Amino acid sequence: MVNVAVVGTQWGDEGKGKIVDIYAEKADIIARFQGGNNAGHTLVVNGRKTILHLIPSGILHNNKICVIGNGVVVDPAVLLQEIKELQKGSLFPPNTKLLVSERAHLIMPYHRSLDVAREAQNSSKKIGTTGRGIGPAYEDKVARRGIRVGDLYDEELFREKLHHALEEKNFLLKGLFKEKPLNEDDIASEYLGYAEKIKPYVADTSLILDTEIKKGKKILFEGAQGSNLDVDYGTYPYVTSSNTAAGYASCGSGIGPNAINNVVGICKAYTTRVGQGPFPTELKDAIGEHMQKVGQEFGATTGRKRRCGWLDIVLVRQAARVSGITALAITKLDVLTGLDKIKICVGYKSDQGEFTEAVPYNMNTLSKCKPLYEEFDGWKENISRAKKMGDLPANAQKYLQRLEELSGVNIILVSVGSGRGETITLKDPFRN
Ligand code: GDP
Ligand code: IMO
Ligand code: MG
Repeated sequence: MVNVAVVGTQWGDEGKGKIVDIYAEKADIIARFQGGNNAGHTLVVNGRKTILHLIPSGILHNNKICVIGNGVVVDPAVLLQEIKELQKGSLFPPNTKLLVSERAHLIMPYHRSLDVAREAQNSSKKIGTTGRGIGPAYEDKVARRGIRVGDLYDEELFREKLHHALEEKNFLLKGLFKEKPLNEDDIASEYLGYAEKIKPYVADTSLILDTEIKKGKKILFEGAQGSNLDVDYGTYPYVTSSNTAAGYASCGSGIGPNAINNVVGICKAYTTRVGQGPFPTELKDAIGEHMQKVGQEFGATTGRKRRCGWLDIVLVRQAARVSGITALAITKLDVLTGLDKIKICVGYKSDQGEFTEAVPYNMNTLSKCKPLYEEFDGWKENISRAKKMGDLPANAQKYLQRLEELSGVNIILVSVGSGRGETITLKDPFRN
């Protein structure tokens, strides 16, 4: 049986949600393995838009198991709100199960406070985080002082951990950041209240995944963020606090790496970035504005305007290497319609005049790099109804062909609109 991981190849918001929703139809289980509600995954089904932050993008399909794995950091208030909204909209199918790993770490109120306070204090060096407490929650996990979902069901342990955590967090909040300290009893009663409500979903998800794999069920691993936000291989420190690479699908869900057979990299036909950090192909001109407006490039989580620029194949190639990407899905090709010329960055020239085809390790070096481009003729025809490659204008086909050559990875899907149906499917990733 073939299992598939879907990951972003850029700085997030590549359209992973749409593609995971499409591929979920063929899968039995859809599992998130990292990140938290910093993600915003948009699904458009029959013209209706759903944005998911924490729940896997397979949730709209019936008869599935949706897993929030141990590698995810979980804000229980967000989880409950998302469940409520899906139920209210009759979007939570009756035979689909949602499971949350008992080993997933909780995002606590002090994580959010610290995230926001650090960003406010560090205005010249800020990362531009989503302010959801993601970084501080992962810090506590690695420092072995985190509180896990399963801890909510041992009240004594939970209160002891909370007390211990608040001694330090309130010291930081009050002493360093001049913020109001947080109240231990208030947090305890809030979180113990969540405990009862999320109990039906909490499980040993590694064990369940293993059982399902042995039954021959198909798993779709849903990555959040993108390769260049990976804490090791992204544009550090302007990254998120988890490993976004496909390898983490294994650690973050509790199954061995040999269970992942194919890795689909989602690649927007141009590049966007939210938050701070170097962006060699960024366009601060009318073309960038075209991408932002036509692509409706606003953050699905924070509503911030996304920075836009040409497709950077240097970044995509690194993503392909780091995640072992076996196929590419190209999204938002329709947004390039109407541009006279289209460019792909194929390498950088450093300020020392050196040419490189690799992403420099040093962010100061990267921020001084000038992109080197290949240029293509654009197309004017509306492509949103295209159902096969042959329906696309010749220039769009040429652009995709060259993208494939430059990335060294085959394209198996092209998305030409936000709706499920606005898709050219070339190959099923669940079939080898
Ligand atoms: P994700 O975080 O990778 O899931 O991506 P987001 O949902 O944050 O951002 C992608 C945005 O582009 C969403 O608003 C999608 O509805 C939209 N989208 C996805 N694919 C396409 C496409 O092919 N064309 C257009 N025009 N919009 C798309
Ligand atoms: P999806 O899954 C785009 C960015 C933030 C910031 C940096 C660190 O929708 O693609 P964090 O709150 O994670 O500590 O912020 O990472 N970021 C994203 N950018 N898409 C995302 O998720 C993102 N999740 C985090 O803007 O620059
Ligand atoms: Mg997003």
